[in-house]
Parts: sequence; C-alpha cells; structure tokens
Amino acid sequence: MGTPTGWLSNGWKHGIVAAMVVASMPVAAQAEGEVNIYSYRQPTLIEPLLTAFTESTGIKTNLLFLDKGLVERIEAEGANSPADVILTVDIGRLTQAAEAGVTEALDNDAIEANIPAEFRDPQGNWFGLTTRGRVIYASKDRVADDAITYEQLADPAWKGRICTRSGQHDYNIALIASMIAHHGVDEAETWLRGLKENLARKPAGSDRAQAQGVFAGECDIALGNTYYVGLMKNNDKEPEQKEWAAAIKVLFPNVADRGTHVNVSGMSLVKNAPNRDNAIRLMEFLASAEAQEIYAEQVYEYPVTPGARLSDDVASFGEIKPDALPLSEIAALRKQASELVDKVRFDEGG
Ligand SMILES: [Fe+2]
Repeated sequence: MGTPTGWLSNGWKHGIVAAMVVASMPVAAQAEGEVNIYSYRQPTLIEPLLTAFTESTGIKTNLLFLDKGLVERIEAEGANSPADVILTVDIGRLTQAAEAGVTEALDNDAIEANIPAEFRDPQGNWFGLTTRGRVIYASKDRVADDAITYEQLADPAWKGRICTRSGQHDYNIALIASMIAHHGVDEAETWLRGLKENLARKPAGSDRAQAQGVFAGECDIALGNTYYVGLMKNNDKEPEQKEWAAAIKVLFPNVADRGTHVNVSGMSLVKNAPNRDNAIRLMEFLASAEAQEIYAEQVYEYPVTPGARLSDDVASFGEIKPDALPLSEIAALRKQASELVDKVRFDEGG
C-alpha cells in the first residue's frame, strides 16, 4: 500500500507539501515497520535525520508537516489519530501539547541519559533535542562591548539603540519568563520598562529583521536566536542576508553569571500512538549522539547531549553556557510574562 497523500516518506522526492486530511487514513499505513510524525519543523531540516534513522533501523518514517494547528488536529482525530511522535520547537508549543492531553508520559532510561534534566519534562511528556540561545546581535562597527547582560539591556546607555521582534512572540515570552524566575515579577517589570525605553523602533518582524536593522544602522544591538545567524550566513537564496550576518557579532548574555537563556526544539510521544514501539525507537535515536550531531549540523542549533560536536558555524559564535533554569519553570511563567508585556505596552515601542 502506498503512503496517504500529504505525507512525506523516506525516499520520496518532494518539496514542502501542505497537510492533507488523514483522518480516514488506511490501516496499512499504520502497519509494523513505520512511524508517523507530526511536525512543526520544516521537512528539509529533519529529513537527513529521518533518513539516518531508517538506514539504521529499517523503520520507514511518514512525516506530516504543519505550520499551525498540530495539537488541534490530533485532538480532532481522537482515537483514530495516526500520530506517533510530535516534533516541534519552543517550550510554549511543547507544553501546549502536554496540557492538551495528547502526549503520553514516557519514562525511558536511554533518552534520559542523553538529555539533561533541565531540558525535559520531569513527567516525561516532552524532551528537548536541541537548544537555541537567545543572544545579542551587536554591530561589529558600533559596539565595542564583548559582554552584555540581559539586565544591561535596560541601561539608559542603550537608549534608542535596541531592536527586537514583538514582546509577545514565544521567544521573547520565554526570555521574559526567565527574568521573572530569576528576579521576581516586580524587578522583571522594571527591567522590561527600561528595555522598552531603549528600543530604536516598534517591535516587529522576525529575528532576522532585527539583524537587518543593525546592518542598516537603525539599531546597534538586537535580540535574536543563534541559529538565524547560521541560516543568514549561508543563505544562497537570499544572499542579502549574508550581509546582515556579516554586520553582527554574537554576544552571549550572562556568561559570567547564570548563563544565557536557551529554548529548545523537542519531541513528544503521542498518547495511543498506533506505532508506539517504533515511536520510542525513533525518540531514542533522536536523543543519540549520532542524531544529535546531524541535527546540530543541519539547523545550526546546540545538541542537548553534552559533548556532541557542534557545526563549524555554531562553534564560530563561541562557547555557550546555558542558563540551568529548568524549562518547566519557564513554561509555568509564560502567562505572567505575556501579561507583563501587555501591562508595560512593550509592543508600542520606546
Ligand atoms: Fe525560529
């Protein structure tokens, strides 16, 4: 039997295909020897991993890429859902799946041995696979500093010099939640107001647009995730992004104290997964040193497994020291962080 329309399986030549309805998927696609993945991660990013998994296990992968509504879809499919494994990014999305009750808590020694405790759910509903630092993109020409803390972003010395995307974006919500965790909500509010005062323009656009802002001279420093620097630097499709990357240096905030805030890409086992054993084999593989290095190379992220090799581009940013604050604590403070962003009217700009 073939693979249902909309799925990307190993060996298919494809571009990115929009999700199709699979609620009436034929039973054959759930037969032994396969695993079904629902993914918010782009197929091109994870395909090398899935190919390596199939080569080493013989288990075929079927990948359904969605850019939104992944959890809602599994909920709608209910007991008939073919989903075995969820792959996604950001603690917000990982916890959303767990809170919706579509994940199964997994207790697995092999996975736990490879993924440090701060990067996984204590209950086993989600596991981080790679970390991504929320760093400072600083102008090579106009910023002499080689160390800036998150706290210093509120320093009046930076008035009118900082760019960032919306305060309500998941990446900034997690960062602000980490500030609440470290300093308490009152101090975090004062900090956020100070940062807002220092903005060069209204928060908008992607992280890459902030690097462009630095390149164009609109701001001197910006907040952004590490991997975008690798993606911009090697962007042959939009070569102007290479100039944005060349204009900035990556500064890791708080290396001298608690470390840099990181978020994760991650995975979950789906509740009632029809191919549960294969799903667990895939998850064990994704946590292995072999897969960790493929992942890191492909997406310019940091492997969660200590000692896994970095891509050359990522290594060129310098050493990252991740904040050891458990991501589960950040997840618990996301709502408060979002309320703070509204309260200080962060997205209206400085
Ligand atoms: Fe991103």
